[in-house]
Amino acid sequence: MFDLIVKNATLPDGTRGIDIGCKNGVIAAIEQNLTAEASQSIEADGHLVSPPFVDPHFHMDATLSLGTPRINVSGTLLEGIALWGELKPVQSVEQIFERAMRYCDLAVSMGIGAIRSHVDVCDDSLKGAQALLEVRKQVAPYLDLQLVAFPQDGVLRDPTALNNLERALDMGVDIVGGIPHFERSMADGATSIRLLCEIAAARGLRVDMHCDESDDPHSRHIETLAYETQRLGLNGRVAASHLTSMHSMDNYYVSKLIPLIAEAGVHAIPNPLINIMLQGRHDSYPKRRGQTRVPELRDAGITIGFGSDCVMDPWYSLGKADMLDVAFMGLHVGHMSSRADMRWCYEAVTANSAKLMGLEKYGLEVGNHANFVILQAKDTIEAIRLRANRLAVVRHGAIIAKTTPQITTINLPDRPSTVQSDTYAPRSPSER
Ligand code: FE2
Repeated sequence: MFDLIVKNATLPDGTRGIDIGCKNGVIAAIEQNLTAEASQSIEADGHLVSPPFVDPHFHMDATLSLGTPRINVSGTLLEGIALWGELKPVQSVEQIFERAMRYCDLAVSMGIGAIRSHVDVCDDSLKGAQALLEVRKQVAPYLDLQLVAFPQDGVLRDPTALNNLERALDMGVDIVGGIPHFERSMADGATSIRLLCEIAAARGLRVDMHCDESDDPHSRHIETLAYETQRLGLNGRVAASHLTSMHSMDNYYVSKLIPLIAEAGVHAIPNPLINIMLQGRHDSYPKRRGQTRVPELRDAGITIGFGSDCVMDPWYSLGKADMLDVAFMGLHVGHMSSRADMRWCYEAVTANSAKLMGLEKYGLEVGNHANFVILQAKDTIEAIRLRANRLAVVRHGAIIAKTTPQITTINLPDRPSTVQSDTYAPRSPSER
C-alpha cells in the first residue's frame, strides 16, 4: 500500500509508461504497471516527471525589492551594487523576511526544491542573515535552503566584513562566499581568496565565490581559487559562480586554465539570465555575450549548474523563479542547440546543480526522497521550449502545489477550437 502513486510518467531519460510509488516520503517503486493500492494517485498521462528544479545561485535578501529605492538606470553590475548599498541601511529584518518568504512560495509553485542563496554580510547588524536563517527554518519542510556568507562590498575592502562573515558563520550560515574581483586590486582579490578558503578549511565548510564576474580578460581569480582549493584539500567542495571574464580571456591561457579547474574539482555556476543582461555594457558593437565557456568546461568534466541569481532586484527587474527560463537562456547564449546539449541544459538546472550543492537522496530512484515535479511536456527539451507548466509539485510524497493545464480556446472559423501547447506541436524526436 503506497501513500501516492504517479501513473504513466515519462522520465527525464525518455523512458515512458512508468509508475512511481511513494511511501513514508520516500520513492518505494519505479516500474511499469504498479498494481499496489495507494491512498492517492495522479495520472501523469505520459507527461514528464522530473526531479525538482535546483537553483544553485540566488540572492534571497534582495529579491522582490525592485524599485526600492530606485531602478538601476545604467543596467550595470556596479550600479546594482551601489543601489543595493542604498537599500541595505533602510530595510528591516521583517521586510527581508517577508519578501524572501513570498519568493519561496513562488519558487515552490515553479517546482524548485532547493536553493543556494548568498546573503550579504556587509552590514554590521547582519539583518539579511537574521532574516534568511529564519526563512531557512520555516521553509525546511518544503524547500532546502543553503546560505552563503557573501561579503558583497569585499571582505578586505569593507573594514568590518571579515568579522561579520565569521559572525554569520557562527550564527549558522552554511557556506563561505567572496567577491575577489571587487577588492581594490588583483593582489587583494587573491589574498581574499586565500583568507576565505582557509576559513572554510578550518571550519569544514564549502566555498562558493562570485569569481571574475567582469568583462576583464586579465582577471585571474579563478586560477587562484583552483590553486587554493588544491592547496587546502577542498576538492569537490568549492564552486566558482559567474566566471564571465573567461568569455573574454585569451584562448591559450584558457587552454591551461580549464584543466587546472578540473584538476581541483571546482564546480562552475553560470547565471545566464543575469550575465547576458549585465555583461558587455562597456562594449560598442560587437557586444560580448559574457557567458563563461560552458561547453568547454563541461567537456573537461567540470560539474556545472545554472543559477537564476536575481529576480526583481537592483540587478535584474524580470524573472519568475522559472529555472526553465534559465536553461532556455543558457542554451541560447552558449549556442547549445544540439539535442544532446539541450538535454544537458535541463540537467544543469536539476541533477548537476543538486550534485554541486551536495544534496542527498535527490533524483528519481528507489530509496530517494519522493520529491518531483510533473510538467506539462513530454520530454526535457519540450519542457525548456515551452517553459512548461508545473502540473503538480510533490515533496516527501505529498502534493504541495498544483497548476491547471494550460488549454486555450480559439474562436476562428474552420480551425481547431483548442490549443494545448504540449499536444499541439509535433512530438519531439525520441529522447533515447
Ligand atoms: Fe550573484
